[in-house]
Amino acid sequence: MLSGERGGAVRRAMEIVVTLGRIYDAQRLLPIQSVQVAGVSYRNLGEAGLEFLRDWAREGARACVSATLNPAGMDMNNWRRMGVSERFARKQMDVLEAYSSMGIQRTCTCTPYLSGNVPKFGQHVAWSESSAVSYANSVLGARTNREGGPGALAAAITGRTADYGLHLDENRRATHRVEVRCPVRRPYEFAALGYLVGREIGKGAPWFVGLELSPIDADPVRAPDGPEARTRDVLKLMGAALASSGAVGLYHVEGVTPEACAVPDVSPKDVPTLTIESLEPAMAALRTRAPVQSIDLVAIGCPHASLDELRQVAEGLRGAHLSSDLWVTVARSVRDQAKALGLVEIIEDAGGLVIADTCVVVAPMHEIGYRSVATNSAKLAAYALPHAGLQVRFGSLERCLSAAVDGHWDTVGETPMACPGQVATTMGLVPTSEASTKMPLTLRGRVIVEGHVSGLALVSTEPIGFLGGVDPDTGLVIEREHVLEGQSVAGRILVFPFGKGSTVGSYTIYRLGKAGLAPRAIINLEAEPVVAVGALIAGVPMIDKVDICRLRTGMHVVVHGEVIRCE
Ligand code: F3S
Repeated sequence: MLSGERGGAVRRAMEIVVTLGRIYDAQRLLPIQSVQVAGVSYRNLGEAGLEFLRDWAREGARACVSATLNPAGMDMNNWRRMGVSERFARKQMDVLEAYSSMGIQRTCTCTPYLSGNVPKFGQHVAWSESSAVSYANSVLGARTNREGGPGALAAAITGRTADYGLHLDENRRATHRVEVRCPVRRPYEFAALGYLVGREIGKGAPWFVGLELSPIDADPVRAPDGPEARTRDVLKLMGAALASSGAVGLYHVEGVTPEACAVPDVSPKDVPTLTIESLEPAMAALRTRAPVQSIDLVAIGCPHASLDELRQVAEGLRGAHLSSDLWVTVARSVRDQAKALGLVEIIEDAGGLVIADTCVVVAPMHEIGYRSVATNSAKLAAYALPHAGLQVRFGSLERCLSAAVDGHWDTVGETPMACPGQVATTMGLVPTSEASTKMPLTLRGRVIVEGHVSGLALVSTEPIGFLGGVDPDTGLVIEREHVLEGQSVAGRILVFPFGKGSTVGSYTIYRLGKAGLAPRAIINLEAEPVVAVGALIAGVPMIDKVDICRLRTGMHVVVHGEVIRCE
């Protein structure tokens, strides 16, 4: 494949797979059972991403294993009633056309495991979509790294992934023990807990103790409903949040998740302990600061809702008349099942929409015209302002449904806003400051993408999630309360510990490159596949394994292969 005997498209795909293997010292390639491909909404891909996919399709790329697609930017059958423009719809169709010609199934959901793509315990897969990665590893016991969108596509075309990271036993052991000492019972509280822990640990595999949940079988087919199904729904929300505030692709819950129950080796020994006494820091961080008079939209289904979650929404809305718009976002196959059961009719009679194929984060919300959203998803709450420009309120499903009926968010019992520093960081790195020393400094690292460039450093002590964290059209950091918020990455030597958040971030880096707004180079403590693949396809020089604590914003930095000279 690498020699080009099977064509240029396969060679290009294998180059990505092999580069990742080289970065992470993989000893071999693994055959994979399935692929979940993220990077589908035209909103996130832009023209640059669409052309990237078309090029690959034109070269004859074709998936050789079962491959499913993440949500697109609209409901394919009902985009007009969402308020999506003709222009956007045409471009979105072009994206799907490119994927279809590569043999990727148009499932358009972030919950492929609710639509028949259910990897078995121990199976190797190559999934992008951070919430689905978390679910596959933690709830199903399958094995996948956090593939960036183009990395997953490369795996689909080659049928291989490199054997590193979460494919290996030693990397599936818990890295942190999380003792939960406050009540966590309702689904949105699990989501808040995930957000808090992801933000605290950044990356790793947390081991939760003290959560009251029913143990789950790794095979959901054996217990499609009842308490096990409810536990899986709760873990779906928690895992999505863990993967949005951090780069967490695997967690264990003592006595609950399959590996925690069946594999003695994964339990923690001598790992740091994080104690959670209160969820309030997450609750406060997950609502935006601006006053919200009325709620324009209530959004349920991030990740896409299960049949049981749809049932709860329908029960809560039977006979109601909504004042706000309501979207319940789902996989098309789940919508079809809900329709057959009469659930869609109940929700739509009340004035809500059950929308397939898309979600609030990937739809073109700027052209649809909403200003505020209420949700029970911590992942959506974290992305809504920076990525969709929406003011946010976060709370239980019941409170969200009541906001949809009343048209406003009831603030009774809500504590005041947290100060920005209330959620402590454990990174332990020095704060960003302008360069204070003139002493020349030479550092060495490991080359991820070879390059020879120079420029001024822009240093972040916090991880960066490119999708929703950096605006691909301006190069500005837009993540709320990020240490670099408001600063431009364009033309800078961008220094940060590692990537986090969405696996579509690779395409954001690619778009920055096409717009002339990419960083001149990226320097990391530890390369993460999403950023590594983004740098590779955008041609941005990248080095990791660098002692980034010694770098300061404003230093003049020369990157020369593995050597970094600073003054
Ligand atoms: Fe899925 Fe969209 Fe949420 S892709 S996880 S519903 S942000």
